[in-house]
Amino acid sequence: MAKLAHAQWSSRMTFVLAAAGSAVGLGNIWRFSYMVGENGGAAFVLVYLACVALVGLPILVAEWLIGRRGQKNPIDTMADQARQNGKPKAWLGIGISGVLAAFLILSFYSVIGGWSLNYTLSSIIGTFSGGDSDSIGELFNGMLASPGTLLLWHTAFMALVVVIVARGVTRGLESAVRSMMPALVILMLILAGYGMTTGHFGEAVAFMFRPEWGALSGSVVLAAMGQAFFTLSLGMGIMMAYGSYLGKDVNLISTARTVIILDTVIALLAGLAIFPIVFANGLSPGEGPGLIFVTLPLAFGNMAGGTILGLIFFLLLTFAALTSAISLLEPTVEMLEERTPLNRVTATLIGGVAVWLLGVAALLSFNVWSEVSLLGLNIFYFLDTVTAKLLLPLTGLGSIVFAAWCLDKESVRQELGFDIYDFSAWNILVKYVAPLGVITVFVTELM
Ligand code: PFF
Ligand code: NA
Repeated sequence: MAKLAHAQWSSRMTFVLAAAGSAVGLGNIWRFSYMVGENGGAAFVLVYLACVALVGLPILVAEWLIGRRGQKNPIDTMADQARQNGKPKAWLGIGISGVLAAFLILSFYSVIGGWSLNYTLSSIIGTFSGGDSDSIGELFNGMLASPGTLLLWHTAFMALVVVIVARGVTRGLESAVRSMMPALVILMLILAGYGMTTGHFGEAVAFMFRPEWGALSGSVVLAAMGQAFFTLSLGMGIMMAYGSYLGKDVNLISTARTVIILDTVIALLAGLAIFPIVFANGLSPGEGPGLIFVTLPLAFGNMAGGTILGLIFFLLLTFAALTSAISLLEPTVEMLEERTPLNRVTATLIGGVAVWLLGVAALLSFNVWSEVSLLGLNIFYFLDTVTAKLLLPLTGLGSIVFAAWCLDKESVRQELGFDIYDFSAWNILVKYVAPLGVITVFVTELM
């Protein structure tokens, strides 16, 4: 992106679409629902909502603010801004850990993107129609047990990402994103409507929104915070990179609010679609990463027009996954392009192959390498955990501490349009609530 000589986004709308394209993805539907299920429901959801509002919003603004100030890629931006403010050069570590996190996430993200691609094709040939929870479960487990099948779809998904990034057409996706977002919202509404016909909608609502606070633990809170970072694409320098293309007249706070509301609405609707099916079929909410792949096909297989709706759904999900995956590969490619003699196409290929290889390790952890464990987790869970629960919050914490405490007042005032050092709710949120929130969650979890 830095190679585009820092042209600016054509309009606020274009920027919102790009940011939403990165934010809305597998995290909203696949990861959100399986995390809610694994972490016991409502207590997780409410902590997640608090994290989105109190930590996610200010950090999103901070990343855009630093990016728009710096006008470069995240690593150079952090180095420049640190120097200009008389701070240690080590702040560029934020840029580096962001690139690393994006690289690690894409490896397993592509595996799940592959599942979505596979299910898109399965919908076309009507595989799910009339299925019951046994047959749908067998289909899913059959896929997991077959390294060849997983490899095929992971490779196909990654190939799509590489082709799009190599051709540098990412911005051409704007118009596609523009129609995808409303379509996704409508489809999730239809699915939640189907959930109401199962007779278990009330149970699902209670599961998601009526907390048993006794179930709350440090690890649930950490999982909720990790999900907030993951779903908003925070802590990876990606939003910082996007911010560098943002016109000066765009209001950061209201734009961040728009993107966050869209992302959150889609996630909550996904929960309202998925959990009624879970309860109606006696499935376990704690199913793990397979949750949407063993529930939604049941709905599609048994509702009027389900074959076509299923096809549209998995197509949209795959597309949302692709736009997020593109934003995940971009930092690695950009870094290779700027720091080595490689041209864009070669940089994309090398970056893509490296991600793909790590993805192969992740997919093998569902079958032949299921016993291989790092810190007691299989490779897939290890990658997911280290990024969402460690790298992203730490990098995000760095960005907000830098924006709130290290940048000169005048820069911040120019970016936000008001003086952050005045006493205000926003000031307190950015300087104290958000950073202390992240630190508290870490400390609690360590103890
Ligand atoms: N936010 C995306 C999702 O919810 O699916 C995933 C993601 C994309 C995370 C880009 C991080 C990122 F930089
Ligand atoms: Na998201």
